Amino acid sequence: MSMNLIALLYLVASVCFIQALKGLSHPTTSIRGNLFGMVGMTIAVLTTVGLIHQQAADLNVSFSEGLGYVLGALVVGGGAGAIMAKRVEMTKMPELVAFMHSMIGLAAVFIAVAVVAEPYAFQIVPKPADGSLPAIPVGNLLELSLGAAIGAITFSGSVIAFGKLSGKYKFRLFQGAPVVFQGQHMLNLVLGLALVALIGTFMATQRMDLFLALIVLSFILGVLIIIPIGGADMPVVVSMLNSYSGWAAAGIGFSLNNSMLIIAGSLVGSSGAILSYIMCKAMNRSFFNVILGGFGGDAAAATAGGAQQQRNVKSGSADDAAFILGNAESVIIVPGYGLAVARAQHAVKELAAKLTEKGVSVKYAIHPVAGRMPGHMNVLLAEAEVPYDQVHEMEDINAEFGQADVAIILGANDVVNPAAHVKGSPIYGMPILEAYKAKTVIVNKRSMASGYAGLDNELFYMDKTMMVFGDAKKVVEDMVKAVE
Ligand code: TAP
Repeated sequence: MSMNLIALLYLVASVCFIQALKGLSHPTTSIRGNLFGMVGMTIAVLTTVGLIHQQAADLNVSFSEGLGYVLGALVVGGGAGAIMAKRVEMTKMPELVAFMHSMIGLAAVFIAVAVVAEPYAFQIVPKPADGSLPAIPVGNLLELSLGAAIGAITFSGSVIAFGKLSGKYKFRLFQGAPVVFQGQHMLNLVLGLALVALIGTFMATQRMDLFLALIVLSFILGVLIIIPIGGADMPVVVSMLNSYSGWAAAGIGFSLNNSMLIIAGSLVGSSGAILSYIMCKAMNRSFFNVILGGFGGDAAAATAGGAQQQRNVKSGSADDAAFILGNAESVIIVPGYGLAVARAQHAVKELAAKLTEKGVSVKYAIHPVAGRMPGHMNVLLAEAEVPYDQVHEMEDINAEFGQADVAIILGANDVVNPAAHVKGSPIYGMPILEAYKAKTVIVNKRSMASGYAGLDNELFYMDKTMMVFGDAKKVVEDMVKAVE
C-alpha cells in the first residue's frame, strides 16, 4: 500500500469520524452516526495494517511475523470489547466508558515507552550501526512526554472514576464522597511543577529513568485530581477524562507522525472538552476548576447533608396517583436514574398515552445529568419510542412547572433537589428541574434513600408531595391499569 493511498484512506476515515460526531448529536440521527463511526474505524484499522506492511518493507523486516501480533491484538481486544459492550446494562455505561478511557491512557503510555526505548523501530530516527541509542529530536521528546503524562493521568484518573461510578467497592478512594485533605491544592501544584521539571530534564538528557519517573508522577497526579471530586460532579469527570484520552492519543500521533491518531485524538479531545464545558454549565461549575481537579464538593457538607433523619412524609398508592393524574390538565414527567434501573420506560410511555387520550397534556422534562451518562434519559425514552416533541430540555421546560397541575418524578432525586438553592450544600448552584413549583408533586422511588449525591431531599417532605413507594416499573404499570 503506497503512502499516498494510506494518507487518502486515513482522510476518508477522519471524514467518517466527523460525520459520526455530527450524527450522534441528535437521537434521530444517532444510528447513522454510529454506522459512520464503525465504517471509519474499520477503514482506520485496515489502513494501519497496510501501513505496518509498508513500514516492514521499508525496514526490511518480516511483515508476517508482526501480523500475528496485530491480528492477535485485534481479536483479543475487539472480542473483549464486543462482549463487554453487549453485556453491559445501560446504567453501567459510565463505568464501561471510564474503563475504556483507562485503556486508551495506558496504551498511550506503553507506546511512548516503546518509542523512547527503540525510536528507530518507529522510523523516528535511523538505526545507528553501532547499536547505541540514537538521539531523538527535542520536538518528539516533548510530544512523547506530554502523550505519556496525559495518558498516565487518564489511566489512573479513570481507574478512580470507575471505582466511584460503580459504587461497589469498600476502598475509600473508590467511594462517591470526595476525599479532601489539608494542603491538597498545594500538593497538586508542587507535583505539577515537579512534572514540568522532569519533562524538561528528560528532554535535555533523554534518560529512560527520568521518563519512567515522570510517568509514575503522572499516575499519582491522576489519582489526586479525581479523588476530591464527589457525587453529583462525576458526569463532568467522565467527559473530562474522555477529553484527556483524546489528547493523549493525539500527542502520541504527533510522535509517530500518524495523521489518523492525530485527527481522531483531536476529535475526541475537543469534543470531550466541549462536552465538559456544556456539563460544567449545566452543573454551574467552573471549567478551570474542573480541569485543575479542584472542584469536588465540600466533604463535611456532603456528610452532614447525607445524614438521614426520621421525618414524616405523605404517601399514597399507585391508584391514588392515577386518580390525581387522570384529573389533571397538565402533567410533567421527570425521569431519573431509578427509571432506567427499573427499565420502566415502556410503561411510562403507555401511561403518557393513556393520559393524552383522556385529554391531559403530557410533557417530559429532561435534566442534562439525569441518569448516569450524558443523554441517558433521551436514549431511554427514545428506546420506548416516546415522541420527540413531548421531550423537553431543562431550560425549555423549567418555566412551565409553575403552571403544571402535576409533576410526577420517577426514580429521580438529585436533579429535582431544592438543596441546590441552599448555600453550603454540596450541590449548591447546580440548576435543577423546578418540579417543586408544580401544584401537586408525585414522587416514585423505593425508599427514602438519598440519590447519587448522598443528600436528603426537601421536596419529598412538602405538603403538596405524595410519595408512591415501589419499583418504578411495577408502580407505573399499576398506574396504567388504574387510569380510567
Ligand atoms: P439519583 O439522584 O441517582 O436518584 C435516583 C433515585 O432513583 C434514587 O433516589 C433511588 O431511590 C431511585 N431508584 C433506584 N432504583 C429505583 C427503582 N427500581 N424504582 C424506583 N426508584 C428507584 O438520580 P437522578 O436524579 O437521575 O440524578 C443523577 C445523579 O447522578 C446526579 O447526581 C448526577 O450528577 C449523577 N451522575 C450523572 C451522570 C450523567 S452524565 N448523567 C454520570 C455520573 C453521575 P431508592 O433507592 O429509594 O429507590
